[in-house]
Formats: sequence, C-alpha cells, structure tokens
Amino acid sequence: MLVIVKNNYDSLSLEAAKVVADRLKKKPNLVLGLATGSTPLGLYKELIRMHKYEGLDFSKVTTFNLDEYVSLPPSHDQSYHYFMQNNFFDNINVDPRYIHVPQGMAKDVTQFCDWYEERIKSFGGIDVQVLGIGANGHIAFNEPGSSLGSRTRIKTLTSTTREANRRFFKNDETVPKYAITMGVGTIMNAKELLLVASGNDKADAIKSAVEGPLTAMCPASIIQMHKEAFVIVDKEAGSKLEGTYVDTWETIIFD
Ligand code: PGA
Repeated sequence: MLVIVKNNYDSLSLEAAKVVADRLKKKPNLVLGLATGSTPLGLYKELIRMHKYEGLDFSKVTTFNLDEYVSLPPSHDQSYHYFMQNNFFDNINVDPRYIHVPQGMAKDVTQFCDWYEERIKSFGGIDVQVLGIGANGHIAFNEPGSSLGSRTRIKTLTSTTREANRRFFKNDETVPKYAITMGVGTIMNAKELLLVASGNDKADAIKSAVEGPLTAMCPASIIQMHKEAFVIVDKEAGSKLEGTYVDTWETIIFD
C-alpha cells in the first residue's frame, strides 16, 4: 500500500489523475473502475483537461462503475448514471458501448449482478479501480459488516449513508434504501486500487482503513491486503495517521 499525503484537494486530484493517465498511456484499452461521490470529481476534471488539452485518449477504454441506487432511473439527476454522464463520460471520448454502470432498474437484480461480475471478467478484470471512502469506512456501498469476500449484489444502505446522501434529495422519503454495489471481493480483484479521500470528516475512516485492524466493520481496511493500492489523501483526511508517508507516487516502489 502506498499512502500519499498531499497539501490540498487540488493536488490530491492531480496526483490521482497522473496515476490514471500513466496507466492509460501504457495500456490504451485500460479497464477502468470508477466511483461517484464528491471526492473523485477533481480527478475527473483533471482527466477531462488532459483529454482536451493533452490528447489523453479514452477511445479504447472500458469502464465499470462501482454502484448505483436501486429504482432510480438513469435520467434521475441523483442517479449515478446521470452523475457519471455529466461529470465525466460526456466530456471524454469513451465509447458508450464500453461504459458499464449497474442497472438499478433491472427487473432481476440477482441475475444482473451475476452478469456484471461475468462482464468484468470478460474484459480481463479491472486494471485500476478508483474508490472513495465513507466516513463510516464503507467502500462503494459495502457498509460496515459487509463480507470482505462479497461480490456484486444488492445492499441496504445504513442510516449514516442515507443521512450523508440526504442533501442531494428533496426529502427523507426519496433517499433510496437499496443499492447495487460491487462487493469487497470484486473490488479486491482489481489489479490496482486508487482510493481518494479529502477533508477532516474522513480522517477517522482513513486512520481505520490504513492503520486500524482488518475488520468487516471498516470495509475499506481490506485495502491493507491489496498488493498494489494507492491511498491518496489531503492533509485533513490524513491528519490522524501516525505512520510516515510520501508526497508523490512517481518515484516510489511498493512495499
Ligand atoms: P464522497 O463519498 O466522495 O462524496 O465523500 C465517498 C463515499 O461515500 O464513498
């Protein structure tokens, strides 16, 4: 695990974007795992800038998103389909046929989840998976208590997560109760992980994930078991870490 502590949100976004761009240049048909949430927005903005001004080419890329709310249509402005389309896909040259976001409207959710797992495998697995982290230590919608070996499935959102997401919805009633999410095991199969976190309210979660015990109560702590994981945080999110960490990835070898 390589933990990188940056001065602020902009420099953490740039750092994360440099990793993705580097992998994409080395493998034009990169299989890129993507996350929603406010934290990866800066990373997406930087990748869009690199596409527009530096010719970063996404034409052969395949994407798989981590999660989606159940029963929100893709046209709903709080669906993750909508988020990804607006904040990323519409602004790069990715082929729409190779974009995958879980289908929250699927009639048979279990069948869909099995298909999603198979689809990831059929592309040779995810090369780089972008991840946020919840203040409660969740990754994707794998809430505390999720099996560390879990695969793509439907999950009930915790009250903490629904509370955190309430700001995006008109009232309590409309905050979805369920989501389809890649499992912790699915995420761990990605060849590289790129977890980004910003701000004081993530400091406890980052401390538990990076330096705490490996536990299903902090699903993000599984990252300690990954062979090639980047954790890129700003000073605030890294403020409770006790170890000594680096400030760039470019010259570093994993240990
Ligand atoms: P955030 O969400 O980036 O909006 O804080 C992260 C998450 O809950 O995974």
